[in-house]
Amino acid sequence: MKDEKMFLPILLGTPRKNRESEAVTKWVYLKMQERDDIETQFFDVRDFDLPMDDYGPGIKDLFPAWRDAIIRADGLVLVIPEYNHGYPGTMKSVLDLLLQEYIHKAVAFVGVSSHNWGGTRVIEACVPMVRELGLAATFTDLHFPFAGSKFDENGKLLDEAYEKRVKGFLDELVWMSSVLRWGRTNLPSKYHQ
Ligand SMILES: Cc1cc2nc3c(=O)[nH]c(=O)nc-3n(C[C@H](O)[C@H](O)[C@H](O)COP(=O)(O)O)c2cc1C
Repeated sequence: MKDEKMFLPILLGTPRKNRESEAVTKWVYLKMQERDDIETQFFDVRDFDLPMDDYGPGIKDLFPAWRDAIIRADGLVLVIPEYNHGYPGTMKSVLDLLLQEYIHKAVAFVGVSSHNWGGTRVIEACVPMVRELGLAATFTDLHFPFAGSKFDENGKLLDEAYEKRVKGFLDELVWMSSVLRWGRTNLPSKYHQ
């Protein structure tokens, strides 16, 4: 991967009004932009005008920016609030727009919750789902428990411990994405759908 950046889009996974996940996503996005080994692109589920009478890869061409980003991506960051121990349906609808495009690429999870678990349970719920999409999950998650108290009114993160955490989180994602890109590029295509 010498001098090559990994292309890693980030998805803000909820459309909810007053969502705490927005400040989290913006901060992680900023941290990704600061690195010289990552190129990124911000996606927000609010920007997907999902039809109520259709679903899935059959309508992916209605969302060319997302489609083309995932075709080019080496991996993906999902910022996921925990809703009844699960993930927002809107985020699942966005992910389900594609399938082949995710295969043998990495995914890393940022969990967001208003209580002390920091999205641990929603991340666990996501693992079997992303596996069916063909994505390979990292294990260095980033957790934002008590999300409402983590940022000031300007979106400044109040806890400096996250600087070290986000580095480890992104380092593993870059490693996984690099290895998978190498495999997709160099191994015989008979091993890769
Ligand atoms: C429908 C719904 C279900 C929720 N379920 C949980 C939950 O199971 N566990 C939890 O810690 N917080 C739960 N919350 C609180 C969210 O985690 C909280 O809103 C947090 O700030 C992250 O979501 P946000 O980006 O929507 O703000 C729930 C919130 C909503 C709207």
